[in-house]
Amino acid sequence: MWRILMRRQWLIVLCAAFALSGFLVQGGHAADKAAKDKKGPAILLVTFGTSVESAQGSFRTIERRVKAAFPGTEVRWAYTSKIIRQKLAKEGVAIDSPEMALARLMEDGYTKVAVQSLHMIPGAEFHEVNINARLFEQMSGGFDKVTVSWPLLVSNETMEKTLKEVLTRVVPKERRSTDAVVLMGHGTHHPSDAIYSALMYMAQKMDPNLFVGTVEGAPSFDEIKEMLVEKKIRKAYLVPFMTVAGDHAMNDMAGDEPDSWKSGLAGAGIEAVPVMKGLAEFPAIADMWVEQLKKAMAEL
Ligand code: CO
Repeated sequence: MWRILMRRQWLIVLCAAFALSGFLVQGGHAADKAAKDKKGPAILLVTFGTSVESAQGSFRTIERRVKAAFPGTEVRWAYTSKIIRQKLAKEGVAIDSPEMALARLMEDGYTKVAVQSLHMIPGAEFHEVNINARLFEQMSGGFDKVTVSWPLLVSNETMEKTLKEVLTRVVPKERRSTDAVVLMGHGTHHPSDAIYSALMYMAQKMDPNLFVGTVEGAPSFDEIKEMLVEKKIRKAYLVPFMTVAGDHAMNDMAGDEPDSWKSGLAGAGIEAVPVMKGLAEFPAIADMWVEQLKKAMAEL
């Protein structure tokens, strides 16, 4: 009898142990889930990228401003340019594409991501990121939510503010009103190229000697140069209208080659003064991207 009781007790103990272990496993999963949930939203900063070391100052400023606005939030980077990622990889610097960075965030257990486009206009790169980031939300086991912020120049308000900030902060104080300021935008085959012509219209209303040209779109440099010649401009400040002062600023704008903007102006008798700073190096302008990010974070 006593032995049977003992056996029964052992059975109960065994059952309890099994139940408990089951509970622990369950509890473990719950703890896993809780840890995952605790990871909260992450921020992915997406830029075209640059291989120019001196241009990295733009990215440092942006990251500082983003971290100040969202303390304790995971902030990661991705470059949309494959050429730049490959170039950096050869130098031992590994930078993710937006898709790789999103996959990594997913693998690391983040459930929500705000993707910040650090591009100037909603062009081809922005639209690709926007589509692909949202697909990560749709896939099985993907993020609960992904939001994508707008780039910088997406409304009359942001366009006008950017031009004003450039005039007051980026253009050197010694510029006289008779000196021209020529902004060098990138330009694109994408329909959003029209933003640069809209900017040029706004710029002319703001300051008749403020011009906007592009490297690969409209208005072209030749068009702008003709206007400067017509206005008998003698001196022009050349300003990269880009997130970073990278390869285009160094070569297409300020290079010594005969086809650079500086050389083109010199050929027309206009002294060119290049300003080698990317827009994101200026905290007031970097904060305009952060404002877009705040909206994307609020939607998460
Ligand atoms: Co380019």
